[in-house]
Amino acid sequence: MPYTIVIFGASGDLTRRKLIPALYQLFRKNRLPKDCKIVGVSRSKFDDDAWRNHLLESLSDLQKQDPDKNDWSQFATRLRYFSGDIAVAEDFSNLSEFLAQLEASQPHERIFYLSTSPNLYSAAVTNLGKHGLANQAEGSRRIIVEKPFGTNLATAKSLNTSLHAVFPESQIYRIDHYLGKESVQNLLVLRFANSIFEPIWNRNYIDHVQITVAESLPVGSRSSYYNATGVLRDMFQNHLLQLLTITAMEAPARYAPNMIRDEKVKVLRAIRPMTPKTLAGSTLRGQYDGYRNESGVPNDSQTDTFAAVKLFIDNWRWTDVPFYLRSGKAMSCRTTQIVIQFRKPPHMLFSDEAKPQAEANRLVIQIQPAEGIQLHFQTKVPDAGMKLRLTDLDFSFQREFSGALPDAYQRLLLDAINGDASLFARSDEVELAWEIIDPIANFWRSPAATPVEIYPPQLWGPETATEWMRRQGREWFDVCPVLN
Ligand code: BG6
Repeated sequence: MPYTIVIFGASGDLTRRKLIPALYQLFRKNRLPKDCKIVGVSRSKFDDDAWRNHLLESLSDLQKQDPDKNDWSQFATRLRYFSGDIAVAEDFSNLSEFLAQLEASQPHERIFYLSTSPNLYSAAVTNLGKHGLANQAEGSRRIIVEKPFGTNLATAKSLNTSLHAVFPESQIYRIDHYLGKESVQNLLVLRFANSIFEPIWNRNYIDHVQITVAESLPVGSRSSYYNATGVLRDMFQNHLLQLLTITAMEAPARYAPNMIRDEKVKVLRAIRPMTPKTLAGSTLRGQYDGYRNESGVPNDSQTDTFAAVKLFIDNWRWTDVPFYLRSGKAMSCRTTQIVIQFRKPPHMLFSDEAKPQAEANRLVIQIQPAEGIQLHFQTKVPDAGMKLRLTDLDFSFQREFSGALPDAYQRLLLDAINGDASLFARSDEVELAWEIIDPIANFWRSPAATPVEIYPPQLWGPETATEWMRRQGREWFDVCPVLN
């Protein structure tokens, strides 16, 4: 059946930098449905050609070269622009007519992509329903919702209520672009398509897990969004908790959307709730020096640009294995990595010295950049008695497979077009994630919390985070990506 993709927020950054480039690449790979129209909606006064030119310019900038003329001109014929305001109900009836004309009153499947300011999501969904744009009887109607999905549990629930009033859950695709990354999907493959890891993937062999998403860039031009959000809500509620669930979940019986999501939900449900005492001892936050000089940031801002959180998953597989999650801006380098730190051997044969925990086996899953996997293990140093050294075996995507890895949005858009929600978050998943994050955010705003700690940029966050780990007999794996 022919297809129409309607993007709300068509003049925005995400559309220009991610959505259109992804759709363009899918078109070039011949993966878009044959008859697939792409309609951009926003308040800006573009016409079709002006919008196309705006997108072409940014595609050329991103690729650092003009796209192939022939490909682009064929792709551009699919792009149409509708100038309208999400807050104005009447514009939806005009949009409905516009779509009916464009689709020549033939049945089409439709996807609506909400990429506007999040405070407009509910209004947009309600208007889609009111004006008959989401009528499933006329062909499948799906909606993709960009993050952030709410700002806390209450707002996420209310957004879910608005969505469910118009779309069945099976037609709602909540984006977390981390799930579209090849290396994140590969984690599922590593765990569930190999038999050697699963037997040791538990509390009997694993001392702890570290999940780090470090970014070297400061907040920059996004400060008005960021200052009201902070790293905990910007990164933990979604990306870090998604990485945690994939690392910790049980194998689903089949690779099917609800089976995968059921397993992820079970992990979130098993996360030990924090008490006032554990909140103080298991969470810490920082702010990089200079953040308050970013334009638009108040000079007494307490917003967290770094956070570290220790979580426990109370089930048979993971009881008492800490999961350390941390993320920050203005850190040493850009790296997203999951470190599985194994236990030390029960008895050290080769040395009297007690080796620190960090010297035990370690599996580093490098999500980005330099995507790959490294297994660290002890080796005998030649010609040095029985001296040991930690060395590694590694796998790098770049070395093993040719070509650059596709951007996450390509996979996610294609899955949504094909009706596969495996890599999208379900309503209960999003709400449970907020149930974990809300108490931390509330605690940090309470008088019991210590003021945010200032850390020097371009290092690994506040010194206290390092000391905190050491007090627990552990070390952060503070290594920038080395695989190539
Ligand atoms: C976004 C956050 O969701 O993820 C940004 O809002 C962050 O603050 C970005 O920079 C990181 O994504 P990636 O894919 O570059 O790791």
